[in-house]
Amino acid sequence: MGPPGGGKGTQAKRLQERFGIVHLSTGDMLRAAVKAGTAVGQQARAVMDAGKLVSDELIVAMIAERTCLADCASGFILDGFPRTIPQAEALDKLLTEKGVTLDKVIEVEVPDARLIERITGRFTCAKCGEGYHDKFKQPKVAGVCDVCGSKDFTRRADDTVETVTARLKAYHAQTAPLLPYYQAKGLLIVIDGDRPMDAVTADLERVLGT
Ligand code: AP5
Repeated sequence: MGPPGGGKGTQAKRLQERFGIVHLSTGDMLRAAVKAGTAVGQQARAVMDAGKLVSDELIVAMIAERTCLADCASGFILDGFPRTIPQAEALDKLLTEKGVTLDKVIEVEVPDARLIERITGRFTCAKCGEGYHDKFKQPKVAGVCDVCGSKDFTRRADDTVETVTARLKAYHAQTAPLLPYYQAKGLLIVIDGDRPMDAVTADLERVLGT
């Protein structure tokens, strides 16, 4: 968990590689649906472009379906889900039905003032999805992806200052109330995300017991 641009995706990808556990990002799933022009994508597009939250029903159905796939059998890292109390309650129910225990809930905490710069500077390799930043993580060779060598990069449609402001508002109003929800269950761990990426990763690996 954490605010838009807090580093959830960056860190979850690293944990996926480190632990070999699949990374499920509801934002990535929705963007794939928008790109593919599916019914879900058509419903979600305008909501995402406005920086608001997609309906709980749609998101919960998407996660319920995705977590049934074979690659989730030995666990999964949720990124960007749950984001509302009804989603958290639906997750509790889903996990109970599956006989799966939620091990930890990690909040990557970053002050709002840092987030606009992080988000508006973000870009991604269009071929392999590797994430970059104009200032904090540039490709080693300018214009060439370090991982796959592609020269094709994209920026997200919702990474404008206006939309990030709306996303932050949604985060504070609808998602931040989940922090006390998980604290009361004794699951919440707070990590200081306002540090270099490697320092944040080291902290995550420590709390995950490596
Ligand atoms: P989603 O894709 O989940 O976006 P988000 O939560 O706004 O988070 P971001 O992906 O923007 O940021 P991040 O925390 O992953 O940061 P990143 O690692 O990329 O959701 C998009 C939309 O989909 C939502 O607005 C909503 O409409 C919908 N949606 C998704 N899930 C939903 C749900 N459950 N319910 C309802 N609607 C839902 O890092 C950002 C940048 O900073 C990168 O360039 C990175 O290189 C850089 N960076 C990362 N860490 C550091 C660091 N430590 N120091 C310096 N730079 C850093």
